[in-house]
Amino acid sequence: MNDSQLTRVGVIGTGGMGSRHVVNLHRYVGGATVTTVYDLDQGKAAQAADQAGGASIADDPIQLIQSPNVDAVLIASPDDTHARMTLACLEAGKPVLCEKPLATTVDDAVEVLDAEIGCGRRLVSVGFMRRFDPQHLAVKQAALSDEIGRPLLFKGVHRNASVAFGISGATVLTNSAGHDFDSARWLLGEEVQEVYVRGLRSRPELHPDTRDLLVIEMVLSNNCMAVAEVYVNDSYGYEVSAELVCQSGAAVTMQPDLALVRAGGHRGHRVPSDWLSRFQDAYVAELLDWIGSIQSEQPFHGASTWDGYAAMMVTSACIQSLGSGAVVPVLLPEKPDFYR
Ligand code: NAI
Repeated sequence: MNDSQLTRVGVIGTGGMGSRHVVNLHRYVGGATVTTVYDLDQGKAAQAADQAGGASIADDPIQLIQSPNVDAVLIASPDDTHARMTLACLEAGKPVLCEKPLATTVDDAVEVLDAEIGCGRRLVSVGFMRRFDPQHLAVKQAALSDEIGRPLLFKGVHRNASVAFGISGATVLTNSAGHDFDSARWLLGEEVQEVYVRGLRSRPELHPDTRDLLVIEMVLSNNCMAVAEVYVNDSYGYEVSAELVCQSGAAVTMQPDLALVRAGGHRGHRVPSDWLSRFQDAYVAELLDWIGSIQSEQPFHGASTWDGYAAMMVTSACIQSLGSGAVVPVLLPEKPDFYR
């Protein structure tokens, strides 16, 4: 592939996730080159520009989005910037991979949905990278194979070692649990219709408003159910598992291939410290698919704006349920033909 065939990517937000995307694009995605980066912290932008082998640094995100040296944009700035930046990409007519969540309010998600439909082209991809994780794909494959029958129940476990002090349940639901909503929808192939959420504070020394351990129950279309535990202060590491219980069998994600180590009276393997190591293969596969979809003008195989919007609708209902203690319906409209 010569230089003129490369997709020139601009990356907005080069903290933990964004700089990992920069390095992955540079090292593992032959069809792409990172030409421009932007971060509010210009030091972080400079570091990422170096990691990309000498990218330019934009003065602001709009300059990056509109730059003639940028064909496609990757957004990895904080959650509450996503919708605004994605709308600017749509206005510029450029493909965008927006990290999850697509938006932090339903209204903002609707605005992105309407803007993309208005463009008449599928330009937005959402970074629910579990859809590219080999373990999750193996579970999906098992469910599609007929071997274990129709999926009935999704069971998810999602644990982080620690998060910001005093985290609210709304933040856990918006920032972390969105992955689990997407997993449930994607693995079951159904939409969430109703949610019920309870949460607690794991330690008395935490701020009274902290809700760092949540249990989320969901009823989905076609007589399916889901339950997800999201615990963001487990103190031991980062773990995600997903199980589908089906009519005549079940499939669950297995630990990645790791050495079983025996030492000091223990037998076991390490738990990853964070998502960057646990999902590295998924992040690379997601980027390869995204760039491939741009170059072939074929749909991205990951999450669409519709999926980002649906996850936000579930998030919003879960926030209500956590506050009120009631079962809350998710009033999702019919999926537009544009996303079929
Ligand atoms: P981070 O805090 O490490 O990085 C965020 C970066 O954005 C920082 O460098 C900060 O200076 C910069 N920033 C702040 N305001 C900005 C603005 N207005 N414009 C441009 N840059 C700005 O956070 P992290 O973990 O990298 O998360 C970034 C995004 O990626 C979040 O939306 C998060 O939800 C998502 N994420 C997704 C993951 C996944 O597995 N798909 C995993 C981790 C994060």
